[in-house]
Amino acid sequence: MVDTADTGQRGAFTVTLQVQRYVPEFHETPYWDSWTVEMHGTDRVLDALHKIKWELDGSLTFRRSCAHGICGSDAMRINGFNRLACKVLLKDLDISKPIIVEPLKGLPVEKDLIVDMEPFFQSYREILPFLMSNDYEPTHERFQSIEERERYDDTTKCILCAACTASCPVFWTDGQYFGPAAIVNAHHFIFDSRDDAGDLRLEVLNDKEGVWRCRTIFNCTNACPRGIQVTKAIAEVKNAILQHAL
Ligand code: SF4
Ligand code: FES
Repeated sequence: MVDTADTGQRGAFTVTLQVQRYVPEFHETPYWDSWTVEMHGTDRVLDALHKIKWELDGSLTFRRSCAHGICGSDAMRINGFNRLACKVLLKDLDISKPIIVEPLKGLPVEKDLIVDMEPFFQSYREILPFLMSNDYEPTHERFQSIEERERYDDTTKCILCAACTASCPVFWTDGQYFGPAAIVNAHHFIFDSRDDAGDLRLEVLNDKEGVWRCRTIFNCTNACPRGIQVTKAIAEVKNAILQHAL
């Protein structure tokens, strides 16, 4: 008999995934498919999706790349919450019931679990997500104190997965709101002591579709797989706009 405690292996179990399917060109409305698969204790939702795609239905479509929580490409709704499929262990879910898997909300579905990320990246581009400095071309690295770096450390962790923006009811209403992820990435540069274009970004986010549409309901913070304090970052940007106006 194998000592599972020593090898780290866990026993097999069956789990049912109920997945929303949809190809706009061929279907009038989304529909559901479900599959029951045998998995193991350390498997994740992404492993179950792979198993279905590779062994049961090759037409099931979803994005993933790194499979280790780094690229941000497999954000989807799992049992009603935006999560990275590669970070959700099946053993942490209630597998006595089907696991419900849907595409992110508020972005157009291209196929099954794949959404069109263009509206998301459009907002990201608008906040000018790159360093802009008025200094001459430096001849050495631009130094910062530990305190200066800490000021925006949290928001550098964003992997642009869209879990926050697609969990925001304000974004769901019309998709015009810049959304938490764009504000998080603006925060990164607004509070970077080496950057000189903070005013420009604050002006962009002072728009009617900018930070003031945030209703502080914390869905974004709860959804973020990187643990970023998204709502706090939005509040800090709001404050910066107010200070800037004084
Ligand atoms: S802030 Fe978090 S949830 Fe939002 S895009 Fe970045 S990593 Fe994803
Ligand atoms: S596949 Fe890259 S974050 Fe999940």
